[in-house]
Amino acid sequence: MSKDTSVTKAPIGVFDSGVGGLTVAREIMRQMPNEQIVYFGDTARVPYGSKSKPTIIRYTRQIINFLKTKNVKAIVVACNTVSAYALEEVKAELDIPIIGVVKPGAEVAASITKNGKIGVIGTVATIESKLYNKCIKEHNANASVFGTPCPLFVPLVEEGWVNDTVTFEVATRYLTPLLDTGIDTLILGCTHYPLLRNLIGEVMGDEVTLVNPAYETAAKLKEMLKEKGLENSASGQSIPHEFYVSDAAERFMSFANSILPYDVDTTKLVSIEEY
Ligand code: DGL
Repeated sequence: MSKDTSVTKAPIGVFDSGVGGLTVAREIMRQMPNEQIVYFGDTARVPYGSKSKPTIIRYTRQIINFLKTKNVKAIVVACNTVSAYALEEVKAELDIPIIGVVKPGAEVAASITKNGKIGVIGTVATIESKLYNKCIKEHNANASVFGTPCPLFVPLVEEGWVNDTVTFEVATRYLTPLLDTGIDTLILGCTHYPLLRNLIGEVMGDEVTLVNPAYETAAKLKEMLKEKGLENSASGQSIPHEFYVSDAAERFMSFANSILPYDVDTTKLVSIEEY
């Protein structure tokens, strides 16, 4: 039987509280060049990392309602905070597949650690949720997990200070206690942090393997689309990705162009509270 191409050619909805989820969109573009992405960044309401669970769930429902108007075939929650606080709730309400970034990142960390000591850095909300701990222990019951919130990293990345001495100093303050625990694996549990990968790597040293859940999530998405017969196998076309935000479209666009292997020439504003 031939596949329904109106479904396989449908886009994948990817969203985050702001620009951080672009690190996940970037991996999807690299690993699945045939797939179209509709990205939403909630730039008016970022950060989510300091908000309550009910608020994060309400925002998530609005964004999913918006993405559904774009007829997406699957949704990627490209935000650790949303993955930790809202994914399970909204999953039950959806008739299309949805995946988050926490499980894929936790699974790979659990399988690559040699000494069973894993660090996780993220927003206050993500670390307090302890979802990484739970997912890691499901795969490696003997693992010890050390979580540290690094709330200043998000504004520093948004400011573009990814190779700055101030950011290095902040990273040293946050990460030295983690280094002292003897971890051999560190999960970058916030979508902004892969942009600080080099700097974090410098502080942690060569003995600690950094896990970027964005990479693992894209790989998981690829597997899932294949399994469900949803992957777009039509190649050779140029893919017109779409970008939407709730505020500051110009600023978002210049950030997107600085990190994506794709020329973003339009970013549209959405009144997300109406969804
Ligand atoms: N994107 C968020 C995350 O991955 C970080 C930014 C925020 O606090 O909204 O947790």
